[in-house]
Amino acid sequence: MPTRETVRIAAVSDVHYGKQSQGVMQALFSQIAERADVLVMPGDLTDYGLAEEARVLARDLTACLKIPIVAVLGNHDYESDESEEIVRVLTDAGVHVLDGDSVEIQGVGFAGVKGFAGGFGRGTLGPWGERAIKAFVQESVNEALKLESALARLKTAHRIALLHYAPVQGTVEGEPVEIFPYLGSSRLEEPINRYRVSAVFHGHAHRGAPEGKTATGVPVYNVAMPLLSRLHPDRPPFLILELPLNGEAPSPRPGTQLGDPLVRTA
Ligand SMILES: [Fe+2]
Ligand SMILES: [Fe+2]
Repeated sequence: MPTRETVRIAAVSDVHYGKQSQGVMQALFSQIAERADVLVMPGDLTDYGLAEEARVLARDLTACLKIPIVAVLGNHDYESDESEEIVRVLTDAGVHVLDGDSVEIQGVGFAGVKGFAGGFGRGTLGPWGERAIKAFVQESVNEALKLESALARLKTAHRIALLHYAPVQGTVEGEPVEIFPYLGSSRLEEPINRYRVSAVFHGHAHRGAPEGKTATGVPVYNVAMPLLSRLHPDRPPFLILELPLNGEAPSPRPGTQLGDPLVRTA
């Protein structure tokens, strides 16, 4: 059983809400409300980036969830040039929408940024040649800098990073290798390691892998809902991370049963 020394963070990404989605996730949101203290939603909140879609999502969130919600936008949320209105709609609904900034909830610090593409490791695209290439790379660098400044502001014992794009290759494995460079960037990994983040949540790679690690061992969770649904059709498609707040090692959990969400301890 969770104790007062534990914060339970539920995570689900890529819900891709559309105009017709009213009510489709209410059952899931209600389960999250029962089992978690905070919900994080790392991007692709809407399908076509329409403010109207965000309004549908905001209605479902406020109808079912009284716990704090932290989100970042994903690439889909930019598709229709309505991202500012999407942020306004969700913020009005009480969601903390992060874009290079941070928020502290129940003693846990959350830093959020969308992130960007660019590739991993030795395959990382460099700023060389055409202006278009340099601009592309600069976008990736800027997102990493935004993440760094967001993390730098947090003084909490636990820091959680929220990204839409992947910071490591491990959690995009399973996608076609040709599109790995479009699914994330190693540039995002450096601040995560330097600020000793407790865990990273991201989405975007619908066919990637659910868990990976940075070079220094920071756990990285790909919580894209389509991925969790496919991997665990017998469980609700969200992850719960239990964070001990007293600095002790996480206590062992009883095995999860059918119908339980996935649970990880940090
Ligand atoms: Fe997505
Ligand atoms: Fe995406």
